Amino acid sequence: MKNIVIFTDDPGWHGKQLQQAFANLGYTSFFASLTNCQLHISPHAIPIIIPGLKESLPCAVFVRGIPGGSLAEVTFYLNILHSLKKLNVPVYNQVNAIEHTVDKAATSFLLHQAKLPTPTTWVVKNTNDAIAITKNELQQGHFVICKPLFGSQGKGIRRIEKTSDLLWLTSSQGIFYLQRFINCLGNDFSDIRVFVINQIAISAMRRKGKYWLNNVALGAHCEPIELTDALAKLATKATLALNLEYAGIDIIQDTSGHYTIIEVNSIPAWKGLESTCSINIAQLLADDLINRFIN
Ligand SMILES: Nc1ncnc2c1ncn2[C@@H]1O[C@H](COP(=O)(O)OP(=O)(O)O)[C@@H](O)[C@H]1O
Ligand SMILES: [Mg+2]
Repeated sequence: MKNIVIFTDDPGWHGKQLQQAFANLGYTSFFASLTNCQLHISPHAIPIIIPGLKESLPCAVFVRGIPGGSLAEVTFYLNILHSLKKLNVPVYNQVNAIEHTVDKAATSFLLHQAKLPTPTTWVVKNTNDAIAITKNELQQGHFVICKPLFGSQGKGIRRIEKTSDLLWLTSSQGIFYLQRFINCLGNDFSDIRVFVINQIAISAMRRKGKYWLNNVALGAHCEPIELTDALAKLATKATLALNLEYAGIDIIQDTSGHYTIIEVNSIPAWKGLESTCSINIAQLLADDLINRFIN
């Protein structure tokens, strides 16, 4: 059987697009939640049970979502993916790379290690340390942005603009991820999303937020922009630094024109981007997975 599992708790538009793309290549794909998978350790059985697959393993899995939860729950979900990999089932994106990108601290560290431009960032546990860092930044004329370590879609992000805002400086599950705010070029708020598949940047768009958060999920307007060499190179290097098969890279152009990488997404959405170009992104992803990891 030519089966692909798409791990997601919310298939939606992206799930449908992927299903169609895999069908075009002769593969049947179905949705499964990591919350319904099981590990059975016994002498003669396949140790991983994915609902919908009877005592067999799929040709590959496409990870469209990892549910949140307690440390034990998330560790279990990641273990399922690691174990599939050990059983020679291709996991797309690979699980180590997903782990690094869902952790914003690890992403910042790896971007810095790869000598790629990324904002000055602090990750601390103690509230007093967080307050001291933020006060110091404010004194130097910088705003500070405070993000959940495992956040996405702009949720839970705060901007500290003045000393009285320090009240809003809250940790996320006990950890402060603080970053210097980068003022973007131009009069409006905007950033850039570049999509990379197999080390090739395929498309770029500008996202114009209603305010300083430029996430599409928060209503940012998407506009096509030219995918320049500089953007393509930067996004590709970021994807390589994080060891991703494909990625959505968030980039800000600062007031002096320099590009800075804000985030690398290992489970990016592409509906907004597709509204700005005529590329079937799901098909490119399915082609890449099948061609490089199955055939
Ligand atoms: N250091 C920063 N300076 C300026 N804007 C930022 C900065 N960090 C994040 N933003 C804005 O907030 C948005 C969401 O931040 P991001 O780090 O991508 O988190 P999320 O995972 O929630 O998308 C970015 O797309 C950008 O518009
Ligand atoms: Mg982002």
